[in-house]
Amino acid sequence: MTTETPPDAEGTDLAYRNDRIRRALDHIRNDSTDEFDGINGFTASEFIDPDVARHERDLVFGRVPSIVCHGSEIPKPNDFMTLQLPRNNVIIVRQKDGSVKTFVNLCRHRGAMLEEQEKGRCRLFSCGYHRWSYDIDGSLRAITRDNTFGEIDRTKFGLVELPTEERHGFVWVVDDAEADIDVAAWLGKEMDDILAGYGMEKLVSAQSEGFDEPVNWKIMQDAFLDGYHIQYAHPNTAAKHIHTNVMAVEDFGRHARFIAPRKTIDKYLEEPPAADEDLSKYVTETHFLLPNSTLLRQPDHFELLTFRPHPTDPGRCRMEMRLVVPTVEDSGWDEERWNRVWEKNWKILLAVLHQEDFPLLRSSQIGMNSANAGGMLLGRNEVVNQIFHRELKKLAQ
Ligand code: FES
Ligand SMILES: [Fe+2]
Repeated sequence: MTTETPPDAEGTDLAYRNDRIRRALDHIRNDSTDEFDGINGFTASEFIDPDVARHERDLVFGRVPSIVCHGSEIPKPNDFMTLQLPRNNVIIVRQKDGSVKTFVNLCRHRGAMLEEQEKGRCRLFSCGYHRWSYDIDGSLRAITRDNTFGEIDRTKFGLVELPTEERHGFVWVVDDAEADIDVAAWLGKEMDDILAGYGMEKLVSAQSEGFDEPVNWKIMQDAFLDGYHIQYAHPNTAAKHIHTNVMAVEDFGRHARFIAPRKTIDKYLEEPPAADEDLSKYVTETHFLLPNSTLLRQPDHFELLTFRPHPTDPGRCRMEMRLVVPTVEDSGWDEERWNRVWEKNWKILLAVLHQEDFPLLRSSQIGMNSANAGGMLLGRNEVVNQIFHRELKKLAQ
């Protein structure tokens, strides 16, 4: 495992990347992997205790930025989407000046939910109960029958705004109206530079879907940082393409990145590749963005997985998955081919999730509810899971 800073500050430097890929290749030869300092124990309470869950909502999601969507999902002014965050039900809406704002999805009159649709486009938000309306910048525009309602200072009854920033193509929100947001500071120089090097603001979300699962969000997040389960849980799918329990990890102290070699790299086990050969097509590179995202960099696209706690129940969460890809124009393909390729990709991902990962994770949650679950372990090989739990403890205590 290494903690050194990427030399090019862009994450794309060929020699540096190849060094990490060669490290993974050595691991395959030696039947080894990068290792964490020690084995760590944990208990089931982390996944079922309502107090732990409340601390996480308030001290993690109420304080630090996490990704809510890709900017291309609300491309034009007046485009909006609604979402249940751990602490607030929200509307995320593109403004006239191109920026993005997030509001609590609640009418300031008597608290009706303002927008019921998941996605849409509108010039104002109008409440279904007594028809108060709000501009997309959140200001209270009209009080119906205001001659009989009475005098109030309208500037005090606009929609409540949450700190929001668009960076590296994604929209980030801190789920607390009183908080500040600084995504670059949160990412730290290494990860901010790495993400900047990918140019994801030029990409689009070709597919996205949310899954409400009866599983704690950390059980879900852990599964998508785990290179140890592949051969056992995915013998006929992922394990055909990706090595099990082999990772070259960079620990940036909060976020992390790791290389997992594909089996196509095996042709270099005997005869090492030429020094200047680009080896990127032989690996998947995964980024863990604290607190709740896994960003996979594939040779020609990205996959973003996010895991959000349920607002009240420790045993539930929402996972969202997105395929973030070059636009039709940049792909050089016609629209029909573009659709076909990404739909096919999407279906493969969905099948693995629904048939292989979700059943295992649901049964983990059932297991965690046992009164005498006993202590459990994270091994030295589970490096990024260890980083996730180490960093989460710092935030939530
Ligand atoms: S609750 Fe929205 S107008 Fe009354
Ligand atoms: Fe899996």
